[in-house]
Amino acid sequence: MVFMLRVVGHIPAGRWFLRKIYAIEHPSLEREAFGMHFKNPIGVAAGFDRNGEVYRELSAMGFGFVEVGTITPRPQSGNPRPRVFRIGSDKAIINRTGLANKGLEYAIEHLRTPHEGVIVGCNIGKNTITPIEEQAADYLKVFRNLYLHADYFTVNVSYNTTFKEYVPQTRESITEILQPLFEFRRGQDQYRPILLKISPDLSDEVIDMMTDIMIETPLDGIVATNATTSREGLTTSDKTLNNIGQGAVSGAPLTKRAIEIVARIHARSKGTYPIIGVGGLMTPEDVKAMLDAGATLVQLYTGLIYEGMSLVRHTCKMLIAEATNTDNSTSDTKQ
Ligand SMILES: Cc1cc2nc3c(=O)[nH]c(=O)nc-3n(C[C@H](O)[C@H](O)[C@H](O)COP(=O)(O)O)c2cc1C
Repeated sequence: MVFMLRVVGHIPAGRWFLRKIYAIEHPSLEREAFGMHFKNPIGVAAGFDRNGEVYRELSAMGFGFVEVGTITPRPQSGNPRPRVFRIGSDKAIINRTGLANKGLEYAIEHLRTPHEGVIVGCNIGKNTITPIEEQAADYLKVFRNLYLHADYFTVNVSYNTTFKEYVPQTRESITEILQPLFEFRRGQDQYRPILLKISPDLSDEVIDMMTDIMIETPLDGIVATNATTSREGLTTSDKTLNNIGQGAVSGAPLTKRAIEIVARIHARSKGTYPIIGVGGLMTPEDVKAMLDAGATLVQLYTGLIYEGMSLVRHTCKMLIAEATNTDNSTSDTKQ
């Protein structure tokens, strides 16, 4: 799909056509978050436009924002293919891409050109081979070099597709990564929100700890959640799962836990911080449940693979219908 979108992007008026065919605009879809204005609350989750090549096309197709990446300092090829598997009976994907991406230099080439009004988040990570003692330098390197080329940043500490230890999920380790980013930002004329992307496999205690980090530091918000390493609740046979091998599960099996986590963060932070809800949003109703749980914005990945762009269209239509019904009933009550 990324290849197709790149082709369309090179056709004169290609994006104009995409916008005509797909995009729905309505004042009731608009949102304010992190000091930015979003044309709608539905974004593309990280991993889809890994190198920042098609965010304009994705926006033209109706997304309110695009999170590119995960971008690491050096290019890395990730795990050998095949590494992405559809498991249709569970409406899920198992992936072990291993944060394959073309690295910082390549991302700068694509992101430094004008974004034409598209809100672009940049999801940043460390190279897999970087030892934990040097992790903070990797994040800082990507952050400072892309600082002026992205509208917000997501610090991905929740990489879990190869089951290797990535970033220790401790307060020390997370603040060691975040602190230099805050310090760098303090010296800049322009403000860029920083969010933390967390795994759905954390215990409630660790989720509370992550929320407290947000409350106690200049962290701007949380992206919850990444894919899960759990195979619980899958109906796909063990034989098929064994054939696929290791990988993180995204899609329908994640819906319940992702919504629960967002609700937990929302409650603990008393609704005062923006949360981007992601994980198993496969239907407009799932998106509604995620927004009702306290998410300010949402992101899609697996839902997009199974349902295509109709998921965005239907969700936008549902949100417009809801907003206009509420408006009508409010004005009814007032009369
Ligand atoms: C093939 C694939 C690659 C992904 N790559 C990344 C990535 O590079 N960085 C990241 O933070 N999340 C990545 N994700 C996780 C998604 O951004 C999202 O958090 C997760 O899939 C849950 O959402 P979903 O159920 O709607 O897919 C990836 C997911 C998939 C399926």
